[in-house]
Amino acid sequence: MNLILLGPPGAGKGTQAKRLEEKYGIAQISTGDMLRAEVKSGSQIGREAKAIMESGGLVPDAIITAMLALRVAKPDAARGFILDGFPRTVPQAEALDVMLRDKGLALDHVVELKVDSAALVERIAGRFTCASCGTGYHDRFKPTAVPGVCDVCGSTEFIRRADDKAETVAARLDAYRAQTEPLLPYYQAQGKLRAVDGMAAMDEVSRQLEAVLDKA
Ligand code: AP5
Repeated sequence: MNLILLGPPGAGKGTQAKRLEEKYGIAQISTGDMLRAEVKSGSQIGREAKAIMESGGLVPDAIITAMLALRVAKPDAARGFILDGFPRTVPQAEALDVMLRDKGLALDHVVELKVDSAALVERIAGRFTCASCGTGYHDRFKPTAVPGVCDVCGSTEFIRRADDKAETVAARLDAYRAQTEPLLPYYQAQGKLRAVDGMAAMDEVSRQLEAVLDKA
């Protein structure tokens, strides 16, 4: 099964993609995570992407689609994948269509996480991850069981993303509206677009997503 999770920053794409990865045994492919790894490693791509990401803009399509093509070819994606944060522009969606066609693969589902924009800033501003194992948390919606200690690995070090500052979040939301929202009619026209209520509690969003994926 190959699917896309669509939605603005903070909609819960990463949260749900991780759950789907576990449930269906397919690979989560997050272009945001891949770019952050490039930035951390100081690679050429990372150096180009860093300032763009910190300003809330989108990294050029050519860089992203080349990176994605390499990732989709890895063995863990052979059973299927969840695209989290890709495509983000119509040219990226067109490139994906060509890529899948060339590989003889189908896109089975495109699911939009529908959220009120007012909720997004709180979701993003409260997000933090364990510096050691990468488990994601939220100050209000998913705190650690013991304050300051990771539930999974016991680490006491946590990270907040550089692009999660309020002013950058506004630019990311603008980029979503201008460049990514046109993907909704794009996939609607292909008859692939479904929506779930991204404002519901995390478990309910998962339940709705699974209902969509298991129906087809
Ligand atoms: P990326 O890493 O993809 O970030 P994003 O799309 O902005 O999405 P987020 O990771 O912020 O949010 P999410 O929807 O995954 O929400 P999450 O599950 O964490 O991209 C970062 C940057 O990289 C971009 O700005 C761009 O510069 C670049 N980039 C990446 N891909 C690109 C591409 N294809 N083309 C060009 N540039 C690209 O949830 C958020 C918080 O809310 C968490 O704390 C979570 O615990 C909480 N939460 C989740 N669900 C719920 C719920 N149902 N109720 C309450 N809280 C919830």
